[in-house]
Amino acid sequence: MSSMYSSLHDSYVSNKRRSTSCVTLAVVLGCLIVLGILLAIAVLKRPPPHEDHETLPNEAVGSNFSTDQCSMTLVESIPQYMKFKANVTLGIPLEKAWKDLISMATDQVDVASFYWTLTGEDINVNSSSDIPGREILKELEELPSRNVSVRVVTSVPSVRTNSTDLKILKRKGVQVRKVNFGHLTKGVLHSKFWIVDRKHVFIGSANMDWRALTQVKELGVVVYNCPSLATDLHKIFQSYWVMGQSNSSLPRPWPAEYDTAINKHHPLLVKTDNISSRLYLTGSPPSFCPPSRTQDLEAILSIISDAQHYVDVAVMEYFPTTRFEKPQRYWPFIDDAIRTAAFERKVKMRMLISCGRDSDPAMLPFLQSLASMDSPHQDISIQIKLYIVPVGNQSDIPYTRVNHNKYMVTDKVAYIGTSNWSGDYFVTTAGVGLVISQHAPHPEWKTKALQGQLRAVFERDWDSEFAVHLADLGHHPDCALSR
Ligand SMILES: *[C@@H]1O[C@H](CO)[C@@H](O)[C@H](O)[C@H]1NC(C)=O
Ligand SMILES: *[C@@H]1O[C@H](CO)[C@@H](O)[C@H](O)[C@H]1NC(C)=O
Ligand SMILES: *[C@@H]1O[C@H](CO)[C@@H](O)[C@H](O)[C@H]1NC(C)=O
Ligand SMILES: *[C@@H]1O[C@H](CO)[C@@H](O)[C@H](O)[C@H]1NC(C)=O
Ligand SMILES: *[C@@H]1O[C@H](CO)[C@@H](O)[C@H](O)[C@H]1NC(C)=O
Ligand SMILES: *[C@@H]1O[C@H](CO)[C@@H](O)[C@H](O)[C@H]1NC(C)=O
Ligand SMILES: *[C@@H]1O[C@H](CO)[C@@H](O)[C@H](O)[C@H]1NC(C)=O
Ligand SMILES: *[C@@H]1O[C@H](CO)[C@@H](O)[C@H](O)[C@H]1NC(C)=O
Ligand SMILES: *[C@@H]1O[C@H](CO)[C@@H](O)[C@H](O)[C@H]1NC(C)=O
Repeated sequence: MSSMYSSLHDSYVSNKRRSTSCVTLAVVLGCLIVLGILLAIAVLKRPPPHEDHETLPNEAVGSNFSTDQCSMTLVESIPQYMKFKANVTLGIPLEKAWKDLISMATDQVDVASFYWTLTGEDINVNSSSDIPGREILKELEELPSRNVSVRVVTSVPSVRTNSTDLKILKRKGVQVRKVNFGHLTKGVLHSKFWIVDRKHVFIGSANMDWRALTQVKELGVVVYNCPSLATDLHKIFQSYWVMGQSNSSLPRPWPAEYDTAINKHHPLLVKTDNISSRLYLTGSPPSFCPPSRTQDLEAILSIISDAQHYVDVAVMEYFPTTRFEKPQRYWPFIDDAIRTAAFERKVKMRMLISCGRDSDPAMLPFLQSLASMDSPHQDISIQIKLYIVPVGNQSDIPYTRVNHNKYMVTDKVAYIGTSNWSGDYFVTTAGVGLVISQHAPHPEWKTKALQGQLRAVFERDWDSEFAVHLADLGHHPDCALSR
């Protein structure tokens, strides 16, 4: 894992490096001497320890065990007219989760979303399935009059719409900042999360879009009563907020208040209902992560390489390349991790990729390449299915009827993120993820834990009529990869 990750860093460094090793050696020696001097000065000038602590954020003082309750709930949005079998595991509906969060709010709501289109008019569509979206917009509008301060960050560049949502919200007293990720990192703000009263958080695949409530299959998590996690996510929100000021430029390094004590090496520990959970947030792009923040890609690679038995992945799109950066680059880090796990450690890989009318057929060869490794004789298992949400009579609504999920579950952890699995999302684009591992003394409790629920959701979808093995695809009118 560490070699894989360091090779990733190498790819950022220009090739000059190799031809100038002598110069490098000299520079390194010089640096060592300077470092020695600096260290000596630092030791001599070090302030007494209590001053040290004052400059650190509260929870950085070693307390990664939390007495917070932190109850976690899986959240889902199932597109209208999709029928599931009886008794299947389902997350609570996204609409309910958002409405509950709004009604709980007494002090402050912070929302990050790529774009906002909560009404049909925003995208020139007349559909009664936008009603839940309209209701959410109305309820958010009313928050300032309840003395709840609302802050919104959104992306520049963004999706082209006729949306008036943010104008309406501003008029009602919501503070809005558009963060120019195009300028800052050549990416976009693709994160989707809420923080309510610095206590409750939502993280998931859903944008502030009416289609996310009724037309797109979404998955996320709400963590209630978890100030430590909310405070940590707030640092990420705050990094966007500050960068949303005009003429902002990326700080290098990020000031100490953006440091975190909660990461892959020091997860937050919480115990609820006999289940103990370890949690941490991940962030992207690297230029928004202080060294103490676990990067999204680092987490994904380590989760895959730590798995012993199985890795189940559900993502909307999968490309071992960059997509938006031109010229496109081959970007094999996740692909390599998957192949390595399947080949060297015989980990069973299952990948559920979305296919809709707007999917890019260029994805197919990469999926086929992975799937071609599948070989029961060699004990290599990489299975890939496409998940196709039937369009039915909803064909007049653009960019819908897809499985927008972005999660992974292994024998060790659950991961819920906001990024597609292609290069840009880990290099230039802002995203967040939540990594959870849970332990319960009794297997029955474990199935009730979020990790168990997420596995059940994956099984539900994998075994459903909507999931088609790559080899069995044939012609499917609702899947652009089958044409
Ligand atoms: C659904 O659950 C109920 C109660 O647990 C059970 O009686 C019923 O047989 C289940 N139905 C199916 C289709 O599994
Ligand atoms: C915005 O509205 C105009 C005029 O109604 C329409 O032509 C255009 O397609 C709309 N754009 C989007 C993205 O909905
Ligand atoms: C939207 O559709 C409904 C019925 O489908 C219709 O009654 C209504 O007039 C339409 N609204 C607009 C603005 O076209
Ligand atoms: C909001 O705060 C103001 C000033 O503190 C107060 O006068 C008003 O009653 C509050 N409104 C509500 C709905 O709490
Ligand atoms: C931003 O930069 C431009 C050009 O450097 C300058 O004219 C403008 O006053 C700056 N705006 C702010 C808010 O600092
Ligand atoms: C909690 O943090 C301390 C130091 O900050 C560290 O030594 C310890 O290993 C951490 N515990 C866990 C379980 O991460
Ligand atoms: C937790 O464990 C105790 C003792 O084993 C048991 O009595 C209790 O019902 C458990 N609580 C839950 C929520 O499962
Ligand atoms: C769309 O199809 C569903 C069932 O497949 C039906 O219940 C619904 O009324 C249809 N809607 C329209 C506008 O035709
Ligand atoms: C990734 O996901 C977004 C929505 O989350 C979608 O609009 C986009 O087309 C997807 N694909 C790529 C390659 O970014």
